[in-house]
Amino acid sequence: MRVAWLTDPHFNHARAAAWDAFIESLDGDMPEALLITGDISEGDDVVFQLSRLAGSFAGTIYFILGNHDFYQRSIATTRRQIVDACGSESRLIYLTNEFEIPLASDVGLVGDDGWGDAMVGDYENSPVRLADFQHIDDFRNAPPEGWKSQLQELGQQAADRLRPKLEQALERFATVVVATHVPPFREACWYEGHTTDDLWAPFFVCGRIGELLLETARQYPTRRLLVFCGHTHHGGTAALTDNLTVVTGGAEYGAPRLTGLLEIDDNTCRWSFAS
Ligand SMILES: [Fe+2]
Ligand SMILES: [Fe+2]
Repeated sequence: MRVAWLTDPHFNHARAAAWDAFIESLDGDMPEALLITGDISEGDDVVFQLSRLAGSFAGTIYFILGNHDFYQRSIATTRRQIVDACGSESRLIYLTNEFEIPLASDVGLVGDDGWGDAMVGDYENSPVRLADFQHIDDFRNAPPEGWKSQLQELGQQAADRLRPKLEQALERFATVVVATHVPPFREACWYEGHTTDDLWAPFFVCGRIGELLLETARQYPTRRLLVFCGHTHHGGTAALTDNLTVVTGGAEYGAPRLTGLLEIDDNTCRWSFAS
């Protein structure tokens, strides 16, 4: 089975020619499925873009959402709309809302949106404040003093959702592929070939998911965890332990293109970045 991986396409920034070029590029690799690790678009356009993809690509589309996908509404409203959209198109699979999915007899897939959860780095002294705070209702309608605890809560909720499905997948499969938007470790949070500093880390690392991944990787030493994420728009690979690798994909606004390819046989998943 071949799965085309795409992160941070931000389709709302892509002109028609860029969209067509992306769809054509899929034909070359002939993947059976697409895996999208968030920042598909923004607001209303997310559902439109997912439907458009489902209309242009014949395979299954596994995805999770990124912070931009929640713009112009609340997080809960967006998730509800996405679950509804998946209800009317069976090839759209929102992993945040699903249990583990077999890709082969011994390879499973799980996922969760994740969030930059202010658990790593120095939130208090950071001058960074993402546009998320202006564009997502949950933050826009809340006092800035409460933002840090909101981020922490979102990270905790993500880890709480992921834990049971990750544990179940590790019981069942030799290799577990994990899809999430925000890099779960500072070591996987790449920017121009370097990993993040204390000022950016609070918004670019999902610390709670990182803790969960490390804990479960140690608990299941004979299993292999392969994590795919995005959000930083800069690519890199980090081996956290012998059985836990995080692959972060790069991206460019206005030029959606394949991030990588996963080739899955009975019990392994080989992957490569797209050239
Ligand atoms: Fe992005
Ligand atoms: Fe993002």
